[in-house]
Amino acid sequence: MSWITSLAREAVQTGRAYRAPTTPSLARLHANELPWAPDYNPAPGGLNWYPLLYPDALTGRMAQHYGVRPEQVSVTRGSSEGIDCLYRAFCEANSDAALFCPPAFEMFRWYGRLQGARVIEVPLRAEHGFSLDVPAIKAAWSDDVKLLILCSPNNPTGNLMDPGSILELVEHARKRTVVVLDGAYAEFAGQNPGADWIARHPHVAVLRTVSKALGLAGVRCGAILACEEIIELMRRVQSPYSFSALCEHTVLEALKPENLARTQSRIARIIEERERVSARLAELPQVQTVYPSQTNFVLLKVASADGFTAAARNGGYLLRRIPDEPGLESCVRVTLGAPEQNDGLLAVLKATA
Ligand SMILES: Cc1ncc(COP(=O)(O)O)c(C=O)c1O
Repeated sequence: MSWITSLAREAVQTGRAYRAPTTPSLARLHANELPWAPDYNPAPGGLNWYPLLYPDALTGRMAQHYGVRPEQVSVTRGSSEGIDCLYRAFCEANSDAALFCPPAFEMFRWYGRLQGARVIEVPLRAEHGFSLDVPAIKAAWSDDVKLLILCSPNNPTGNLMDPGSILELVEHARKRTVVVLDGAYAEFAGQNPGADWIARHPHVAVLRTVSKALGLAGVRCGAILACEEIIELMRRVQSPYSFSALCEHTVLEALKPENLARTQSRIARIIEERERVSARLAELPQVQTVYPSQTNFVLLKVASADGFTAAARNGGYLLRRIPDEPGLESCVRVTLGAPEQNDGLLAVLKATA
């Protein structure tokens, strides 16, 4: 290790930067994006000025969109930044802990380690549809757990968590732990988590993003929805002026009623594709299980995950090989693309069966 790296904090020395495959020549069916670019003009003027300290216009519009008050919204650079901010605000390095349930979005683990928090992992019950193991979560809970992170629908398993289990954990957390509900894929499940949770439970913070259903992964915008007290704490850890005017303008355009109506029909098409493509994938001899999905991707258990992703890649399609972990051996995640892309992928997989 070089002396420069040895100066870094231990979590940074021993961790590694987030990696994801990028091959521009391949169709992107690996990152849970929407396949269509927005068809409105995203270019504002006035970029010589700093934006406001925090994007007030967008905060107000997102509040309206998610059904909460502006004081209950913190706009973030993707919901990934929301996870980072919550860790930095609530977890004292080398003393506090967070708990989440793998398999899950890997940033739940990474931002915790980076902050120096102890990260407790209580696996989902793979043999029971990747559901929450409520008794095991309660048993693993200790006084230093400041964040409990739950994700519904979950990535990479695609399923919704049982609302009764979430409620039981939220009630168990009262007065000791902030519960983070990641709703990155909620729109594909016909859900709008936010207002109900935070009205009844001031210790719940809901994460939303425009990267998935709104088709704006390139903009880097998400939101934390929570009580005013948590939002005020978020402002203390966020950098001022960090949200660009270009991004604010683009998301405001996306949230105009006429553009939202088009987005709604695109979400409906993805849901139709989810049912159609899942049925076709299940017919392939190399596919052992197609897990039910409430998202814009499907998880598959296949005979050989490496062989499956290589065949897709050779045919021009990038898929996500899921690292082997208990219950998830030999699994691949397929993002639903446009119908013609999905047909192309199915044809490639059929030809190599
Ligand atoms: C469950 C979940 N949460 C959060 C994110 C982060 O999304 P973004 O930072 O683009 O808002 C992702 C991205 O794939 C995800 O799958």
